[in-house]
Amino acid sequence: MAAAVFVTRSIPGAARALLEAAADVRAWDREEPPVPRDVLRAAVAEADGLYCLLTDAIDADLLAAAPRLRVVSTMAVGYDNVDVAACTRRGIPVCNTPGVLTEATADLAFALLMATARRVPEAERYLRDGRWRTWSPLLLAGQDVHGKSIGIVGAGRIGQAVGARARGFGMEVLYTARSPKPAFEAGCRARRCASLDELLGAADYVSLHAPLTPETHHMIGEAELRRMKPTAVLVNTARGPLVDEPALVRALAEGWIWAAGLDVFEREPVTPDHPLLRLPNVVTLPHIGSATVATRTAMAVLAAENLVAVLQGRRPAACVNPEVLGG
Ligand code: NAP
Ligand code: GLV
Repeated sequence: MAAAVFVTRSIPGAARALLEAAADVRAWDREEPPVPRDVLRAAVAEADGLYCLLTDAIDADLLAAAPRLRVVSTMAVGYDNVDVAACTRRGIPVCNTPGVLTEATADLAFALLMATARRVPEAERYLRDGRWRTWSPLLLAGQDVHGKSIGIVGAGRIGQAVGARARGFGMEVLYTARSPKPAFEAGCRARRCASLDELLGAADYVSLHAPLTPETHHMIGEAELRRMKPTAVLVNTARGPLVDEPALVRALAEGWIWAAGLDVFEREPVTPDHPLLRLPNVVTLPHIGSATVATRTAMAVLAAENLVAVLQGRRPAACVNPEVLGG
């Protein structure tokens, strides 16, 4: 009997074809809304494989409803929505999509940095609203990017790719990570800061790239925002809960920092009345870090390949709890 796979959203055709060649596939075949919890719970009861997105909470409660489950494959590199420890206890591999989205996400992070520094969305709104009357010396003046310093918090794959872009703009590159990155230091003349505190005090731009873990939750709160320069820009393309949002709102409203560029939020999706969206010095995007057609397709295909590999007894290309794979 073919294995049964449940897919929690409409996914690119190439990925769907890979799954269908290997399994009986059922899906919540829509762009939106996300699969309702009761539908997901009922679907996993019959599933050997679960193909999910970062919007799906794969927790102990869901796993308890999935007696046959042999693999969880998420179409994302971040896996904070999955209870990996609970999966590991059940011997279930959790697969993700590292690498294929690194460059696209770094491009978006740098685009957000530039747009925030130079007030690009605000300037476009100004023009479209018919408010452009003349050229003026400080009209819509922003912050320099070239020659400034960037502090990369979490210099992993994406953080280092952002560092390379910053180096191309003549920026000084500072970073934190749990372990030193000698190749990054050599390639981008990056300097590892002894602490987050040191980085925040020194950087003109602070770009977040650490995963969401209990340790990184609210790693940027009131004390950290007060440590930053009043001209500093915070860019978050990692995960919203790295930042204490009420503290960020005060920091932006009261001028502790100059501006923020945000692709991610503590609770997604945000509604238009969110306090951050009422501030002029915030540039916001709807979690589109990896959103190019080629990258999202590559992520979808990799997630499918990972899932099929586990179902067929092969080693997946990416697994966050490889200890359950054996061999
Ligand atoms: P990665 O290669 O694992 O890099 C994460 C880095 O964070 C590592 O260098 C790690 O240090 C560092 N780190 C972990 N805990 C830290 C801490 N407490 N303080 C400072 N650094 C810490 O992951 P990645 O592929 O670059 O992805 C990073 C994150 O970006 C993902 O987890 C995801 O949440 C987010 N993301 C968002 C989007 C989007 O659409 N906005 C797209 C892709 C990814 P070590 O190397 O020393 O372990
Ligand atoms: C996107 O946020 C990802 O983690 O891939």
